[in-house]
Formats: sequence, C-alpha cells, structure tokens
Amino acid sequence: MIPQVATIEDVRRQVDAARAGGLRVGLVPTMGALHEGHVRLVERCRAECGFVVVSIFVNPTQFGPSEDFTRYPRSLDRDRELAAGAGCDLVFAPGVATIYPRGEDAFHLEHPTLFGRLEGASRPGHFRGVATVVLKLFEIVGPDLAFFGQKDYQQQVVIRRMVEDLNLRVAVRVVPTVREPDGLALSSRNVYLNPDQRQAAASLSRALELAQAAVGSGVRDPERVRQILRETIESEALAELDYAEVVDAETLESMSELAPGRRAVALLAVRFGSTRLIDNALLPE
Ligand code: PAF
Repeated sequence: MIPQVATIEDVRRQVDAARAGGLRVGLVPTMGALHEGHVRLVERCRAECGFVVVSIFVNPTQFGPSEDFTRYPRSLDRDRELAAGAGCDLVFAPGVATIYPRGEDAFHLEHPTLFGRLEGASRPGHFRGVATVVLKLFEIVGPDLAFFGQKDYQQQVVIRRMVEDLNLRVAVRVVPTVREPDGLALSSRNVYLNPDQRQAAASLSRALELAQAAVGSGVRDPERVRQILRETIESEALAELDYAEVVDAETLESMSELAPGRRAVALLAVRFGSTRLIDNALLPE
C-alpha cells in the first residue's frame, strides 16, 4: 500500500522532502470513489510530475442540504490501490475537522457571476464550497501542477479563473472525459443508477454528439442546438432534464449566436430518479 497521511503537517513534510530532492509536485484533488476517469488524471499527473499526491476528501461544503453527502460512495482502501496503480506516491485523506476546524465560521470564496450560472443555479453554494476547498488544498499541498477532468466543465473554468484572479502559483491541467463504450461519462454517481436508468443515461452523450454534428454541418443558431439537446433527452422516458445550454466556453455566458473565434460548449444536467448527471462537449469552431 502507498503511504497515506491525514494531517496538514504530514503532507507538507512529504511534499517539502520531494521538492528538496528536485521533484516537481503534482496534485489530483478527488472526493474518492475513484474510477477510470480519476486513474487517467493520476496517470497524466505522473507523466509530468516526479511526486504525485492524490487528495481524497468528500467535501461537505459543496453539497446542498438535500444532496447526497452522507450517501456519497466511500471506498478508501480500493481508492488507495487504484491511485497506487496509476502512479500516485502519497494519498492525503484529511478529516472534516482538519479542513474546517472552525466549521461554518470561516473564510470562503465567492465570484459574482461564474458561481451562479448552470450548476451554480441548480446547486446554490456548490462552487463556493468547491473553490474554497480547492484553494485550501492548493495551500496545504503546494503543488506545481494540479489536474482536473473536463467532465466537470464549469468546475475547471472556475478553478482556472481562481488561479488567474488570485495569482496562485500552480498550473492547472484539464484532462478529457473518460467514457463507457456507449458514451456515458464516467462518474462516481453512476453507481446509483439502476439498469434501466443506466441504459437511458447514454442519452446525454448521444445528445451532445448530435449537437456537435449539427454545428459541424453548419447550424449557427444556439437555440436550435439547445432544441436538439432537449429533444434527445426528452425522448428518454426515465430522463428529467435540468438544463441544456450552449454557452461561451470561457465566460459561461449564454450565447445568442455561434460565431467564429468564440468557442462554445454544450452542457447538460439530467436527473434519473434521484441521481443527477452532467456532461458537456466543446462545439466545433
Ligand atoms: O471534482 C471533485 O471531485 C471535487 O469537486 C473536488 C475538485 C475534489 C473538490 O472537492
């Protein structure tokens, strides 16, 4: 088993020693329940860094009161094995009191526009929790590079903007989404799906592919693209659409026309029973 530490002092001691030995330090922040998508992040981190830290922390502040914090899958031993197999050197798995010693009575991050869009509109407070914990993990671990998946599209935009706006000394790498053979994006929440929902969940990637194909063949009206997304999802009886959007890939502002030089991304959030899945695809320029 690879080493695991739980305290800020221990992780810093190991990172300092690695850096003193001339190694570049990489961090893959996770909430555990690792799958092939996380494995890809760790492998990418290993390819660029001499010392790879994987943090495992189910962050309570990014879950809403009616969300799945208590039932979120936890599998630390298996996670350690998977992380080790992908090239991780150290697992940092702190407890809640280590990360939030003062509970709610603590500083947090806000952003006036980015946090309220898309996921933020459906999950108020989510990005305040994500950005705050990621900033804390950056400060605790002190990585040179940090790795995030494209699957959580808005999250990686928020984190890249945070790094830019707060002048953080870390480079952010974004790694493409890993998919099942039928296109379903890997997610720790896929385990909640029953077999019928699992089959219906392939509609997200199907809808995104149709949207990409439409833009590739000349559709320029984002409303038409949204309609394709909506119709594909709504044709699945078990799917309940939360949002189908086409936004600017950097600012996440809703777009009224697709124009050259402005990258657009299509994003979906869909419920299957009590399970909410998200996915996205960059649209051809
Ligand atoms: O993507 C995740 O797993 C989480 O949002 C993150 C980045 C580890 C912050 O808790």
